[in-house]
Order: sequence, then C-alpha cells, then structure tokens
Amino acid sequence: MDTKAVRGKAAVDFKYIIFEKSEGVATITLNRPEALNAFTKEVVEEIIYALEDVRADENVRVVVLTGAGEKAFSAGADIKAMAGMTALKARELSLMGEKLCLAFENLEKPVIAALNGYALGGGLEVAMSCDLRVASESARMGQTEINIGLIPGWGGTQRLTRLIGREKAKELVFTGRMIDANTAEQLGIINVVAPAGKFKETVRQVALELASKAPVAIRVAKALINKGADIGLNSAVALEREGFSVVASTEDLKEGVSAFTEKRKPVFKGK
Ligand code: CAA
Repeated sequence: MDTKAVRGKAAVDFKYIIFEKSEGVATITLNRPEALNAFTKEVVEEIIYALEDVRADENVRVVVLTGAGEKAFSAGADIKAMAGMTALKARELSLMGEKLCLAFENLEKPVIAALNGYALGGGLEVAMSCDLRVASESARMGQTEINIGLIPGWGGTQRLTRLIGREKAKELVFTGRMIDANTAEQLGIINVVAPAGKFKETVRQVALELASKAPVAIRVAKALINKGADIGLNSAVALEREGFSVVASTEDLKEGVSAFTEKRKPVFKGK
C-alpha cells in the first residue's frame, strides 16, 4: 500500500493526516485523535497537498475521507485556536474552510466522507462538501457552533440548507443539537448508515462500487449536479446535453455497450 504523496520527485510524509492508496481508492485519514481530529491550518494544508496527488494519479478513482480513532470524524475547527480571534482572523479561518470544501467539491473524482464518530461544526461542513456520506451507527453530527456563540463558517448555512431545506437547517443551526446517524439519514444528510461492526467494510464496498464505474461519466455527472444547483433549469439541462455528448465520445461508452451485449462486466479505463 502506498502511504506517501508524490509531487514531482519529492515524497512527502504527512504529520496530521494518513494518506493511503489501494485498489483505486485513496484514503485520507484525519489524524489528530487527541483533539477529536479538529481541523487546523496544518491539517488543511496537508489535505490540499494530498488532493493534488489524487488529481494527478489516474489510478485513483475514488477518495475516502475519514477520522482516526473510534470517537470522531472531526469535531470541527480548532476551538482552542479561536481564543482572542479578531474579525480578520475569523475571515481567514472561513476562507480556509471554504477552500478546503471547494477542493473536495471540485475534485474531478467522487469523494466519500466516512463518518466514524462525531462530525461537528466544520467537521460536518467538510463532510457535506463530499459527494456521499457513510456513517457508523454510533456517529453523531451537528452544526454545534451556536453553543460557543458562533455560526457555521465553512458553508454550513448554505450546504445544509440545500441538503435538507430551510426549516430543518434552521432547527439544527439555531439549536446546535446533535443528531444520530439514523436521524441524519432520514433527513437526507447521510446516504448509508453502516450496521454495528461493519463500518469499514461498508465504506470499502461503497468505494469499490464507485471505483468500478466509468471515471469520465462520474466526473461529468458530478460537475453537472454541482454546477446545475447554482443555475436555472433550462441552462442546467443545456449543460447536461453538452456533458452527455462528451461522455458519449469516450472509449468507456463503447466498452459499456459491448459488455452489455456480450453479457459480461465492463472494464472501464477512464478514456
Ligand atoms: N477544537 C479543539 N479541540 C477540541 C475540539 C475542537 N473543535 N473538540 C474537542 N477537542 C478536544 C478537547 O478539548 C479535548 O482535549 P483535552 O483533553 O486536551 O482537553 C479532546 O478533544 C477530547 O474532547 P472532550 O474531552 O471534550 O471529549 P468529550 O467526549 O467529553 O466531548 C464533544 C466530545 C461533545 C465532541 C466535545 O469535545 C465538543 O463539544 N467539542 C466541540 C465541538 C464543536 O463545537 N465544534 C464546532 C467547532 S467551531 C467550527 O467548526 C466553526 C466552523 O464552522 C468552521
């Protein structure tokens, strides 16, 4: 298993994340379990670096983002670093999270947030910028910023609202309440809740399923779904038409059609 990111000739050992690649799946593990994997500037820098490696490596088809330890995916932005924070520092913190969330949202490969425990504040906001969310049955999540006199600053007021609607988003943001994985699934925040003891296996299954699909088709579908949410229906449908034509020109479509006719599993190459 490859545990280093390679940019040019330099191999990089990470300090705050673990970066592994196997069977087309790159896994980024937030690795500050003593602080419930709270995000710092250093953690964010390392993730952005790892994503550059993922972008350049055509063998990587899917990214999984998860947290080290049993307790947390991430408890959000580092609260201890907020002592005495000025408005300008807060703005920088917000921009940093925005950059991180957009790096996942704009990555041309699917990203699965694997919520192994608490996903709070910025932790939930980062998870919502991923494409799919798989949670362990014991995971708990919430936009808890209000409890320390703050509001979500990494897109939470917007992505949560788009996911579950204004009424439920207001309820969660105003109360700072934590909800369990099953409630989050019912609300539409979580795609899959893994049964007890089967979390890693479930995440792997979802990742390998996505890794087996045609990469260009997934890339174009992701862009269309994300960009389409920001524009009117007519323009979005026109964009889909162009995307559809691009995907139709891939070798993978020929392979998919041949495999269907020959009654076998397709092998997609991302070409
Ligand atoms: N930042 C920094 N350190 C954190 C942290 C955070 N967000 N969350 C937990 N920790 C640290 C704790 O301080 C503690 O460290 P020490 O042992 O050195 O004191 C360690 O992680 C373990 O945490 P607890 O002892 O608190 O564990 P617990 O089981 O009693 O409670 C918890 C767990 C309910 C998740 C609690 O830690 C908690 O409420 N954390 C804060 C969650 C939160 O409000 N997150 C939002 C942050 S603000 C934000 O993210 C803004 C934004 O939009 C970007």
